Amino acid sequence: MSRLDPHSYVDTDQARTRHIRLRWSVDFKRRSLEGEVLIELDREASGTFDLDTKGLAIHWVRTAGGAAIPYQLGDEEPILGRRLRLDLPAGTRTLAIAYAASPEAVALQWLEPEQTSGKKHPLLFSQCQAIHARTIVPIQDSPSIRMTYAAEVTVPTPLSAVMSAGPAGDWPGPAADTRTFRFEMPQRIPAYLIALAVGNLVSRDLSPRARVWAEPEIVESAAWELAGVEAMILAAEKLFGPYEWDRYDMLVLPHSFPFGGMENPRMTFLTPTLLAGDHSLVDVVAHELAHSWTGNLVTNASMEHFWLNEGCTVWAERRILEALHGSGAAVLGWAIGEKALEQAIQRFGADSPLMKLRTDLTGIDPDDAFSVIPYEKGARFLALIERTAGRERFDEFVRAYIDRFRFTSMTSEQFMEFLEQRFPGMSERVNASAWLSEPGMPAGAPVFRSETLDGLTSLAGAWSDGRRPSAEQIAAWKPAERLVYMQHVPRPLSADDCAWLDSAFSLNACGNYEILVEWLTIAASSDYAPSFNRIREVMARVGRMKYLRPVFTAMGAHPRTRGLARDIFAAAAPSYHALSRRVIESILEKYPAEAAAGA
Ligand code: BES
Ligand code: ZN
Repeated sequence: MSRLDPHSYVDTDQARTRHIRLRWSVDFKRRSLEGEVLIELDREASGTFDLDTKGLAIHWVRTAGGAAIPYQLGDEEPILGRRLRLDLPAGTRTLAIAYAASPEAVALQWLEPEQTSGKKHPLLFSQCQAIHARTIVPIQDSPSIRMTYAAEVTVPTPLSAVMSAGPAGDWPGPAADTRTFRFEMPQRIPAYLIALAVGNLVSRDLSPRARVWAEPEIVESAAWELAGVEAMILAAEKLFGPYEWDRYDMLVLPHSFPFGGMENPRMTFLTPTLLAGDHSLVDVVAHELAHSWTGNLVTNASMEHFWLNEGCTVWAERRILEALHGSGAAVLGWAIGEKALEQAIQRFGADSPLMKLRTDLTGIDPDDAFSVIPYEKGARFLALIERTAGRERFDEFVRAYIDRFRFTSMTSEQFMEFLEQRFPGMSERVNASAWLSEPGMPAGAPVFRSETLDGLTSLAGAWSDGRRPSAEQIAAWKPAERLVYMQHVPRPLSADDCAWLDSAFSLNACGNYEILVEWLTIAASSDYAPSFNRIREVMARVGRMKYLRPVFTAMGAHPRTRGLARDIFAAAAPSYHALSRRVIESILEKYPAEAAAGA
């Protein structure tokens, strides 16, 4: 036997899942997701067959004919969970498992009505990437294995269910006050792209193939903000080839969703913080849409090759942005990413093994390894190849890569082999081994500049000399320009400087969360008390880890803000997503201990 993925019990010698059929019943009162999965294998199998599980209660395992299949749950491994080892009778092609997920399943967040916009109905959503699908279904939970799926999900009325699949009808459920929704996903996907949400959800059409789902209270503003999605799909198709997933629908979730977006096929999940009211944050949609090619069509074979998903997608996202809004907008995107990269390098250390693009994650939880490094270092590696090959030839390469490897999973080594085939000598020219196998940023990384960017950074750099932008200048800046300026303002600032920034940028009324959170980070690191209430309010509401991390980190700098952080966390912890809770806990643990009074 051999493992092809350090995060799965999948054994390369065993049969692979080809299709699964899910029957789920959702019970909000018991926080229970319970049901059956029917697993179809790619060949007749017999003897040992292993699945990934975490926190699942297994009721029974049977053949298609209904005969009991002997099974054994292995010991709990903290990252992987428990191996479910079946002993298949000869000739098994299909098997069924009845089971229940734990109310604590990490893939699920059960929201109370108060945590939704409408405040009347509960809401449930899943987040399976990277290795949480196993907390809601016994499955071969490695992105190296792809399957189609069908599902029947029974939910309490009047709620609706959506999935990362095509809707295939709904009808009254087996019990009174329930309704069953059917879904079909005819394209092969890895387990981490299985997704479900249940709530008081309605939709608005944005184009013949795109629609947005959300609670009724926010669906109009979501439809307004995301109205440009069809133009994005068209721009992406021009760059990367035809959109292969039929529909591109989106779901705007409540604030506790821990990510900006998740590329669940046919149903991208989005944070409501994108609804800035001025289309300024829709680059997240460009990113999730780009995953339809880089990630969902061509998938990383394991989390050790995560940069193939995210680095390629950040590069693709900025090409879409450039196609729609010009190279100036793309350069600002690169600059914003550069700041995030700098912060991650600070957090991990430039010589951390997690700085390599090709990582070794044996014994490491992908949630702990998560950072923008595979995103921004990966995207820079591709931009370097793009510049070295020339844009036209590189674009051809990208299309050939997607076409050649669609619906498969890739390792970094396979990527490099294909690159070298297409561009002999390229690996050496760009020093690929430094990018992939060494920590730090290699010399010769591409630099992104524009006059606008230089103007913004030099103005911010002159802060300590007393230079400030004029009111007219600030008014003329686009949101991305304001953000770049704010990111380059030094910190900590004096209370007077904070007050100036606060009023010059009207930060109290700011609807753009990127700018707002940058400001709250400055305020927290400056121990600026007039902003403490705003920090409290925003941090208690928002679950997006990208926003929680910098503000909670900045609050570690002063005794007063540390107290504030501990207060906020104590009050809000029960309403945070499990992943967000873990991130904050790990930040709070690193705070220095407070000196005892009088000591
Ligand atoms: N696929 C990721 C989110 C993810 C990664 C979830 C790993 C779990 C494990 C998604 O596409 C993503 O990258 N989201 C970003 C968007 C940003 C880069 C525009 C986010 O949430 O911030
Ligand atoms: Zn992504």
